[in-house]
This record gives sequence, structure tokens and C-alpha cells, in this order.
Amino acid sequence: MCGIIGFAGREQAAPILLDGLARMEYRGYDSAGIAVRSEAKGLQVKKAKGRLQVLSDLTHGGADLEGTLGIGHTRWATHGEPNDINAHPHVSENGRIALVHNGIIENYLEIKEQLQRHGVKFTSDTDSEVVAQLLEFHYNECHNMLEAVGRVLRRIQGSYAFGIICSDYPNALIAARKDSPLILGYGENGNYIASDVTAIIKHTRDVVYMEDGEIAVVTAENIDVFDSEMNPLEKKHSQVDWDVSAAEKGGYAHFMFKEIMEQPEAVRKTLSPRVRDGRVVLDDVKLTAEYVKNISRIFIIACGSSYHVGMVSKYSWERLLRRPVQVDLASEFRYSDPLVDENTLVIVISQSGETLDTMAAMREAKSRGARTLAVVNVVGSSIAREADDVLYTWAGPEIAVATTKAYTTQLVLMDLIGLYLADLLGTVEKSEYDAILAEMQVLPEKMRRLLEHFEDVQYFASRYFNHNSIFFIGRNLDYAMGLEGSLKLKEISYIHSEAYASGELKHGTISLIEPGTLVVALGTYAALFDKAMSNVVEVKARGAEVLAVTTETFKEKMEKTADSTIVVPDTHPILQPSLGVVPLQLFAYYVALQRGCDIDKPRNLAKSVTVE
Ligand code: G6P
Repeated sequence: MCGIIGFAGREQAAPILLDGLARMEYRGYDSAGIAVRSEAKGLQVKKAKGRLQVLSDLTHGGADLEGTLGIGHTRWATHGEPNDINAHPHVSENGRIALVHNGIIENYLEIKEQLQRHGVKFTSDTDSEVVAQLLEFHYNECHNMLEAVGRVLRRIQGSYAFGIICSDYPNALIAARKDSPLILGYGENGNYIASDVTAIIKHTRDVVYMEDGEIAVVTAENIDVFDSEMNPLEKKHSQVDWDVSAAEKGGYAHFMFKEIMEQPEAVRKTLSPRVRDGRVVLDDVKLTAEYVKNISRIFIIACGSSYHVGMVSKYSWERLLRRPVQVDLASEFRYSDPLVDENTLVIVISQSGETLDTMAAMREAKSRGARTLAVVNVVGSSIAREADDVLYTWAGPEIAVATTKAYTTQLVLMDLIGLYLADLLGTVEKSEYDAILAEMQVLPEKMRRLLEHFEDVQYFASRYFNHNSIFFIGRNLDYAMGLEGSLKLKEISYIHSEAYASGELKHGTISLIEPGTLVVALGTYAALFDKAMSNVVEVKARGAEVLAVTTETFKEKMEKTADSTIVVPDTHPILQPSLGVVPLQLFAYYVALQRGCDIDKPRNLAKSVTVE
């Protein structure tokens, strides 16, 4: 989703801004722009629809814009179509104030009308321009930029992260946030603001996370942070431990492929520090045994792939915990008048930790007394900071829009949490507990072995890439895994695909199966393998082509019926989706590659959806 960077320093700003924006490309965007201030030329703004390369070419890599103070933005359209005019930065009518904005200003129409009555002329369709114009309006009244920002913040409703520069202030940029992430970075050559740590990690790891309602004044030498009443604040610094290479492709053709290949290591990092002496150790959670015993119900809330992790966990947690586990889409949960209370444990899953619906759902649950535990990848993100407890998936930065290593690390972390809670509740036999933990220890190695055979999947992708509609079927954990396999395929290859619980086939979907239809049949869940086989026979009888995924144990049986079979190593049933999903990710990747799709930045999608 939209990305913000700002720089106040001792070097030319434009190349730094362009580089920072490039590092946030993965978030998804449709246009980009930068504004730089120089003594000689005042504010100079360049914006362009399309890829960042267009903006870079337009400014000769930033060389055309002189100045050491600037802001930049990648936009993902919400209000107004993607074009040069609606791109940020937005400039006030007199050309003295430039602003970049992430979020949505809910009362922008009302403010716009008011300003129009004062004769202000607008050029774009955006809510963000309204803020730039309102700033000018107040600045003209009080002649103090910080004061004007304060007045604007009191007037607007909605969510925002702002970066603001003004031609009257040669050295300072102003930042403010509410419900949209913003980070302050302290560098050698100057100071930064960014919506995403990847934008500035090349320059600094010394950061401060801004909180809702805070305002910062950033100069080359200093950053001053204020609360909403303009009282100065002492902020805690954090050190970002991701290194730059983790956010670079390192010889791979695509981030997605690199991240698929990184899964064994990412899973190992997430698991190994939390398993000690044959026990799950979650040092960072404050849940007491007494609290856990009183949990009557568990909700898992998330969006997209994180929601699919929740679907897998529902099956495994109900088996381990013998408690009802309800999985809800965050966007539905937040408006559903949910039945949660102080005996409800709410698990929130989010790779980015910034998904607005997930954040809002978590707040809703908290306001009703529920305890919240967040499973998050991005350290210091908004959800991580607001949850009662947070457990990090240590997957490292995930750049490709389609999630892979964040998904698998979420899966294994959820397995760990499930086991931890089951142990506290006494609902898991020691032999089962030990068997799962033992299998977890060897999971990264099994994943590594599986990935060595990526070319097998590549072969199947070249065989099936020109299908226009694909069905994923499976039962229980295989069904939940199929939801993710299907999403992966459709998001990056644009092939229509659906995932069904195999038992539901006969209740409608089977009418869509005709000679040649590709069905990806998932048969890794041992307890229901025979039923999975029956469904394969059923679709074969209607002419479907079947690509099956099964385990070493069932390989022979499956190969007799399916047209093509991908085999994954055996493991404990609850861990099987962590292996089974890997060929599905590779299948999506290679199919998209064959179809010439923009794999790391699929059309219309954003990595982190920070609007509703
Ligand atoms: C977007 C991304 C998905 C992601 C979902 C939830 O839709 O494109 O890949 O699964 O958001 O994101 P989160 O960061 O909350 O896990």
C-alpha cells in the first residue's frame, strides 16, 4: 500500500528518496512522486503515474532536483484514479507546502467544501490534497507551521501518516501519525521518516516508532517529537536487526522465489529458540495458566493468507485444545457485534502488523474485554504494539506481495502456541506432545529436502499453466491448505481458481468439472486419505485432469489414479500443511512465470492493506 519516505540531511535528497521508494515498491502502488526544497528553486515537485522507473527517468535518477530536504510517496489509489495529478506529494495552492499522506481522511469532503467557499481551488480528486490546502489556510492565519499542523490534526478525522515540507522552512520536515505507521530514522548523513523500515534500513537501524497522535519535527541534526498537545516527548529508540541483504534479491529472479527458498531457515528461526529441553517456551507471553484454564472460546482473526493460517489452526487447535475455535475475517468480525468477553482469547495474525481491518478487529475485541495475542512478523508494527501479548514470526522482511515464508512461519508458530496452550490445559497426551515437538525439530530439514525438487513442480506448471480455471480440493487440514494454494495461484497468475472442501463438491461445484478441467487434489491428511481418493475418482470420472499432492506414505496409491503426483515428506498430521503448501507456492510461482506475470508485484494488490 502507499509508502512514505522523508529526508532532512546533508546530502542530495532526491536520490535517497527514489531509492527509499524503490525499496517499498513491494507494497504495491500505481504512481509515485517526490518533492524537494532548495534555496535557489524553492519547492520542486515531480510525480508520475506507473512504475517508479518513470519518475526516476523524469528526474534523471533525482539529479534534476537539487536540495537536501524532501519527501516522497508511492500511491495506491483510494480517492481518485491513479494519474499524475492524484499522485503525491500534494501542493497547496500558493505552492509553499507539499505533503505526502497514507491513510484516509474521512471528513475531507466537508473540509473541501468549506475551503472552496473561501475560494480555494483544488486540482486533484484526493482527500490528501484537502489536507495540504487546509494546512495553507491555517498557516496563513498563524504563520507557524507546527501550529498550523496542530490545527489541521484537530480538524481532520480518519487515518494518516503525513510527511510535510514548507518552502519557508529550509531545514525541517514535519511528520504526524494516527492509525497508519510512521517511523523516524536517525542516520549519519541526516534523519529520516518512513512508513516502512525497509525504505531506510540502508542508512540506519536506529529508529523510533511514532505513536498515534504524535508529531515530529525532523532536521538534519535532530528529531523533536511532541504529543498532540505539543508537549515534548522522550522516545525510546529501537534497533532494527534486519540486514540490508535480506531486503535484496541476492541473485534470484524474483523475491517470491527467494522467499520460498528461505523457508527452511525462516521456520528454523521461528521455532528453535522456542523449543528448549523438549518443551515449548514462550518467554514473551504473559498468559497465566489460570487465565488459560478459564478460556471458554478462542477467536482467530486475520485477513488474506493470515486468515488461511487461522483456518489451518482451527483444525489443529480444536484437536489439541478441545475448545471451540472460531476463525473470522477481520473485516467481518469488526462489524459483527462479536460475542467475545473476558474469557475469550483472541489471536490476531498479521504479517505486516499494519492491516487496518485486523487492527480494528483487535481493538473491538479488546474493548469487549477479550485478551489479545498477536502473531506478527514486523517488529514494532502497530498491531504488535497494541496487542496484550505478541509473538513474532522471525521470517525477516518479506518483499514479494504474495506471502510465502511469512505464511509458513505463522503456521509453525501457531502450532507452537497450540501445543503450549494444550499443555497448560492438560488436553494433550505427553506422547502426542513429544511426537509433535520431535517432528517440529526436523521440519526445516524436511522442507529443505522438499525444496531441492523444485524442478518437478516447474515441470507440472509448464504442463498446466494454460488452464483458465483450477479447483483445489481437500478435506480437513488439506482443505485449509488448499485455500492458500488457490489464493497464491490466483493472486500472481490471474487464473481463476477456487478451493473447496471435497465433501462439498457434490453440492454444486462438481457441475463445473468437465473434460480437461484441472483439479489440484490434496491428499496429505492421513486420517481422511481414502475419502480424498474417492473424490479424485469422482472428478476423474467427469473428465478432470488431476494434479495431486500427497505424502510418501500414500504416493503409490495416489499415482495409480491421479494424472500427476507431487510427493511431500511425511510428518505429524498437524504439521503436514507446512510441507504441503510449499509445492503449491512453487506451482503458483512457475505458472505465473510461464504466463509472463509481474510476480512480485501483481496487479491491483498491495502487500499491506492499511485502508478499509
Ligand atoms: C494483503 C496481502 C496478503 C496478506 C493480507 C493480510 O491482502 O496482499 O498477502 O495475506 O494483506 O496481511 P497481513 O499483513 O495482515 O498478514
